Amino acid sequence: MKILITGGAGFIGSHVIRQFVNNYPEYHIFNLDALTYAGNLENLKDIEQSSNYSFLKGDITDESFINTIFEEHRFEGVIHLAAESHVDRSITDPLAFAKTNILGTMVLLNAFKNLWNDNWEGKRFYHVSTDEVYGTLGNTGLFTETTPYDPNSPYSASKASSDHFVRAYGETYGMPYVISNCSNNYGPNHFPEKLIPLFINNIINNKSLPVYGDGNYTRDWLYVIDHARAIDLVFHKGSNHETYNIGGFNEWKNIDLVRLLCKLMDQQLGREEGNSERLITYVKDRPGHDLRYAIDASKINKALGWAPSVTFEEGLDKTIDWYLANEEWLQHVTSGAYQDYYKKQYQ
Ligand code: NAD
Ligand code: DAU
Repeated sequence: MKILITGGAGFIGSHVIRQFVNNYPEYHIFNLDALTYAGNLENLKDIEQSSNYSFLKGDITDESFINTIFEEHRFEGVIHLAAESHVDRSITDPLAFAKTNILGTMVLLNAFKNLWNDNWEGKRFYHVSTDEVYGTLGNTGLFTETTPYDPNSPYSASKASSDHFVRAYGETYGMPYVISNCSNNYGPNHFPEKLIPLFINNIINNKSLPVYGDGNYTRDWLYVIDHARAIDLVFHKGSNHETYNIGGFNEWKNIDLVRLLCKLMDQQLGREEGNSERLITYVKDRPGHDLRYAIDASKINKALGWAPSVTFEEGLDKTIDWYLANEEWLQHVTSGAYQDYYKKQYQ
């Protein structure tokens, strides 16, 4: 089977590539990535020489390039992760999100439809999406697969739109698809613009920790390798035209999470307890900031037997260990354009 994985040089994509390349020697895995600021081939050093792996550099919005590679390689499966993924960047540059996340998804859907032209036996289009499409929860309740879509940021609106197009291709053209909507991931190779890796990097460098608003926003955190395992299961065993919610059963208020991170980092860095907490700085809130996300992952648990394998403390420990052991990776991704982004976003 030839499988196209898009966005495979990014955070989650690189773990999904590794999961498939290592576990399915009978497949050929093609990684298509534009290598934007978030894409990094250093994430894939350990598997880049594998005989069942190829890298294709290109943009999912480039219709003629996409049509050409679909005709050349005749992908039977697509696992689509390529996206602009950071909410804060979607607030400053919403059009980039519409282009990649909506138009890019449509270009892939169209290429897949035109290639197989109703010959759908053994084919599958898997769209990797987010729980943010459901909007925000109050203090109680959980997102289920039937929660109405109610996105609040340009990022989540673009992901919601792409989900709708995937469904529409399923209904209109009979395209076999699955969608999963996952909560916040964390772990190795996470770009340091998102909360956990940004704060790890700032703690290492004794820089302030910019907590938005009062810090009482809640997210449901999942270790990225558990997400990659879930994607493997949904791709192989999920039912056609179904959606699966994936989450960590692991809700944390930002400020509690930041305090835990400070404590673990102080221990690992051999710093006095309380040292990193002094870096916490409350800053201007994110516009349209969703109060709380929390996933009811009982459908994937009952239907496919998936559950997270790593506790939050174990996952955070592994994550901190990885960043401390990979300072060179951190230095590469935080030089140049990152410094400009950081200044614009935080000063
Ligand atoms: P990321 O930003 O780390 O990586 C995105 C990748 O897509 C990068 O390698 C980038 O180079 C590539 N890319 C961007 N635009 C492209 C284009 N036009 N053409 C080709 N490649 C392009 O993102 P991530 O955090 O790994 O998220 C991956 C997917 O999972 C996204 O679709 C995101 O919406 C979804 N998701 C993320 C999370 C999370 O917590 N990070 C949770 C749920 C769902
Ligand atoms: O829920 C899934 C989503 O999780 C994914 O779809 C997105 O791609 C991913 O980026 C993530 O979105 P969030 O906006 O929840 O993640 P982020 O790490 O940006 O922020 C997590 C929380 O921390 C959020 O409440 C905002 C807050 N925050 C974030 C940053 C970057 C801060 O307080 N300070 C910060 O500097």
